[in-house]
Amino acid sequence: MLAGLDIVTPQLQQKPLNRNRAEADNPRAMDLHLRDKTALVTGGSRGIGLAIARVFHEEGARVIICSRNPRHLVAAAKEIGEITAMPCDVTKPRDVRALLKRTGPLDVLVNNAGGMEHYGKFAETTAESWRRALELNVVSAVELARAARPGLAERAGCVINIASEAGRQPLRIGPDYSAAKAALLSATKSLANELAPEGIRVNAICPGPVMTDSWVTEARARGGARWQSFLKRASAHAAGRVPLGRMGTPDDVAALAVFVASPKASWITGAAFAVDGGAVRVI
Ligand SMILES: NC(=O)c1ccc[n+]([C@@H]2O[C@H](COP(=O)([O-])OP(=O)(O)OC[C@H]3O[C@@H](n4cnc5c(N)ncnc54)[C@H](OP(=O)(O)O)[C@@H]3O)[C@@H](O)[C@H]2O)c1
Repeated sequence: MLAGLDIVTPQLQQKPLNRNRAEADNPRAMDLHLRDKTALVTGGSRGIGLAIARVFHEEGARVIICSRNPRHLVAAAKEIGEITAMPCDVTKPRDVRALLKRTGPLDVLVNNAGGMEHYGKFAETTAESWRRALELNVVSAVELARAARPGLAERAGCVINIASEAGRQPLRIGPDYSAAKAALLSATKSLANELAPEGIRVNAICPGPVMTDSWVTEARARGGARWQSFLKRASAHAAGRVPLGRMGTPDDVAALAVFVASPKASWITGAAFAVDGGAVRVI
């Protein structure tokens, strides 16, 4: 359990100083009414999660991030400033219970922690890689939603599950990961239906290829000593299959997340939004 290593930056009660910059610069900018809301972003120390945490902070929310590695948490907290960073492995029920005890009731739960841990086609997968993919990408999100549910119901809150284009259009590599993301989309729908009477909205976001550390990790695992040229080829290939001609950035995903969490999206639940430059070709 990682909870013993708590790195809590400023107190949860403390109001972020950086209040809605966009609004200050442009009085006609859309106010997303997220000031003083409490948002937990799992896997918020790097990549897409870090960008989501940053944009919630910019909107004036109280942001809590969690991830496994204290070094990543410290770096993220330094980068964003007034946020709370807590160590937690989302696949460990004890860590999750300890985390939710510390956060108190949430307005927004972003289930972002996830990813591909095993790289291979079906023949290279194992029962264990399938179990692990489901545990990291689906079970953890569902269990976090279960633990956060009473607080979310008190506050008419929402859950955002970061799924993937792979959940709709399985990738060539990682059928276990693709299936897990498809299951996450299904769970999003089930939870949305069941929790709607409590005022809780549940939606999913399906990013296309977004350049983050996860691409470097994969390149190192599959490209060995030539990982840099592997990464160059993989990113060129990814950009080439996207109609808009480029890979996404974490900010592309974060901009959608903050809207979906806002009261402007109060009639949206059970939806799965693509932010993929057109990568998924089906309707
Ligand atoms: N990048 C893409 O192309 C892409 C495309 C579609 C969907 N997605 C999805 O977007 C999400 C974020 O991906 P990313 O590319 O931003 O990944 P990333 O750069 O590898 O970052 C992953 C984050 O999650 C944390 N994390 C990993 N396992 C964890 C665990 N068991 N418990 C708690 N935290 C954990 C990591 O921190 P620690 O190492 O400190 O734990 C890190 O902060 C994932 O769900 C992924 O499947 C990504």
